Amino acid sequence: MRISIASDHAGFDQKQALAAYLADKGYAVTDRGPENDDRVDYPDFAELVAEDVAAGRADFGVLVCGTGIGMAIAANKVHGIRAVNVVTPQFAQLSREHNNANIVTVSGRFVPVEENEAILDAFLTTDFAGGRHTGRVEKIMALEEK
Ligand code: RB5
Repeated sequence: MRISIASDHAGFDQKQALAAYLADKGYAVTDRGPENDDRVDYPDFAELVAEDVAAGRADFGVLVCGTGIGMAIAANKVHGIRAVNVVTPQFAQLSREHNNANIVTVSGRFVPVEENEAILDAFLTTDFAGGRHTGRVEKIMALEEK
C-alpha cells in the first residue's frame, strides 16, 4: 500500500516518526516534506499529498500539523479528497467505514505519537463498509460539481 505523507513545521517531528513507523510496517512511503522544521505554510504540503492521492499516485495520505485542522481544510479543497482530522483510533476506523476517507490528518502538538500510530493503524487497516454509506459518500463527492 502506497502512503504519501507530509507536515508543516509544527508536525515535522511526528511526521518523521510516523513515516518511519509506516515504512517499518511495510508500507511504501513517499515523504513530501518538509525536510526540516523551518517555518512553512501547511497548505503547500497538504496540496502535495492531496494531489498524490487524487491522481492515484498514493492509496492514502497522512498529514501532520499542529492540530491537523488546517491540513484537513486545505486537503479537502482538492477534488476527490475526503480528508479527516482524527484524534482517536475509533474515529479513524469510522472515517474509513462510513466516509471512505482517503487522507487522515493528525495533531503533532496535542496528540502523543503513540496515539497517532494507533490512529494510523486503524485508518490503514479498515475498509469502507459500503452499503448504506455508498450513496452518502457519492452525495459528498457530487458537491464538488455544484
Ligand atoms: C502552525 O502554527 C499551526 O497553525 C499549524 O500547524 C496548524 O495547527 C494549523 O491548523
